[in-house]
Amino acid sequence: MALLPILHYPDPRLKKVAKPVTHVDDRIRKLVKDMAETMYAAPGVGLAATQVDVHERVIVIDTSETKDQLRVFINPQVLTASPVKTLNEEGCLSVPDIYEKVTRPESVTIRALDEKGRAFEIEARGLLAVCIQHEIDHLNGKVFVDYLSMLKQSRIKNKMRKLERETA
Ligand code: NI
Repeated sequence: MALLPILHYPDPRLKKVAKPVTHVDDRIRKLVKDMAETMYAAPGVGLAATQVDVHERVIVIDTSETKDQLRVFINPQVLTASPVKTLNEEGCLSVPDIYEKVTRPESVTIRALDEKGRAFEIEARGLLAVCIQHEIDHLNGKVFVDYLSMLKQSRIKNKMRKLERETA
């Protein structure tokens, strides 16, 4: 296992669209393990492969209090999204210390493969629904900051650049 470096906004690599996984093999299982370790260490509740500069459609999520319920989504697809929307505060390991409200469907049904390559479907609501949609956005080259006003986006970019300079 290994901790993977996380890309920080506005790194242009966060805009890459991830490719579907063609074979769920040992290479993908190692990626899942490393991503999970990286997410737990951060700590965070979700991580998309895009954030560790791997442009394949792999997501890990653990929204449990006890941090022992890892969920793996390979090639996730949104089957249905509720017409009801909710406003939730979101953060992101690629945008440290920034929390902003984003509107999204309250619940979604998702089809994906697990780390053994088996297809499954789940209906997600609450924090899990927010998290899955946020992570699928990453696979599509989108960060939650992209939903905010241009003014907020440029403020956040400036803050991130300052932070990078300070920690460089
Ligand atoms: Ni994120």
